[in-house]
Amino acid sequence: MPKISKKGMDMHPSPIRKLVPYADAAVNRGVKVFYLNIGQPDIETPKGARDAVKNNGLNVVAYSHSAGILSYRKKLAEYYNRVGVAITADDIIVTTGGSEGIMFAFNSCLDSGDEVIIPEPFYANYNGFAIASDVVVKPIVSSIETGFALPPIEEFEKVIGPKTKAIMICNPSNPTGYLYSKEELTALSKIVEKYDIFLFADEVYREFVYDGEEHFSVMQLKNIEQNTILLDSVSKRYSACGVRIGAFITKNEEVYNTAMKFAQARLSPPSYGQILGEAAVDTPQEYFDEVVKDYVARRNTVVQAINNMQGCFCPNPKGAFYAMARLPVDDSDKFCQWLLEEFDYNGKTVMLAPATGFYSTSGEGKNEVRKGKNEVRISYCLNVKDLKEAMECLAEGLKVYNR
Ligand SMILES: Cc1ncc(COP(=O)(O)O)c(C=O)c1O
Repeated sequence: MPKISKKGMDMHPSPIRKLVPYADAAVNRGVKVFYLNIGQPDIETPKGARDAVKNNGLNVVAYSHSAGILSYRKKLAEYYNRVGVAITADDIIVTTGGSEGIMFAFNSCLDSGDEVIIPEPFYANYNGFAIASDVVVKPIVSSIETGFALPPIEEFEKVIGPKTKAIMICNPSNPTGYLYSKEELTALSKIVEKYDIFLFADEVYREFVYDGEEHFSVMQLKNIEQNTILLDSVSKRYSACGVRIGAFITKNEEVYNTAMKFAQARLSPPSYGQILGEAAVDTPQEYFDEVVKDYVARRNTVVQAINNMQGCFCPNPKGAFYAMARLPVDDSDKFCQWLLEEFDYNGKTVMLAPATGFYSTSGEGKNEVRKGKNEVRISYCLNVKDLKEAMECLAEGLKVYNR
């Protein structure tokens, strides 16, 4: 039998989805499962955006320009200028989700074996994109004690070597919810400038910023314009994960032209998705005000409940819709599986994402070091009533598990 690739063997299954069979089995037993494991918002996609797809007059659903439909890119440029990011339609490549933008960034800027430094815990799929692009992730640890603030600049400098080509951040972060400040990003820009490396910024959660804080984009850092690539998506902004539309944005012409070659190879991003994306730019501000209000209430429910549980700690995230919690458990993978397999509280249980999947592992076999063993990620994409019940289940689950 022919052998599969090493890359294929190295790919990890999604740490978030690996518990799905246990959740399905719980549902089949009649247990109600509160899904706090994935970032699928329950918010409605704006009506105007949905109507644009319904009412479109396309008789032939053709390929679009490889960089995306011009009218959409112009509209997107309007959106970015409104949020303080001064770009034009010519700086944008519309991608098939933010995911494809990340692949374009890795493949356009890094060769096989080159390194990208990423503060961990980080979005688990960065690992998959890195393996597919034959790029090496160099993690540096951010800690729950600081709420996952940017690690000190010296920590970045310690791992910068001849193979380092880029730093990647997610702001606000999945999985931590941490919002990097202008000061932190300015400090980061200084080392990007000093070592003349790329800075990839995944800002797909830009709209989800709380407590009167403001999002500061890496595109606003003027000293590193030629080093910066912004990766974005409509998935979370408009609760439209299924339209598969994102964006790759840079002022660096050479990088842009290189990414365009990858974009041409895959022909075009989805046409219906672009129609939805273009109309979505006109979504009224009240939609976002309402969404943010909802998420603040949800976050407060989760953070307060966890901090009231004995031996637990949950920093108060300022963005995205995730919170990382430290729980008094020996092994978060085991605990999350146990919640689904063996536990219920009045016929209900909760599905969480073990944090180990958001950290890199080091060592192998018996010597494997797994970080995040007493942490879980909680996605607060459910309504407050369900979240309250879910937190009751978790509190009870911890008591029973530790008995
Ligand atoms: C941090 C982050 N980046 C990128 C993505 C990919 O988004 P999409 O490909 O749906 O645009 C996600 C999805 O959950 C994410 O959380």
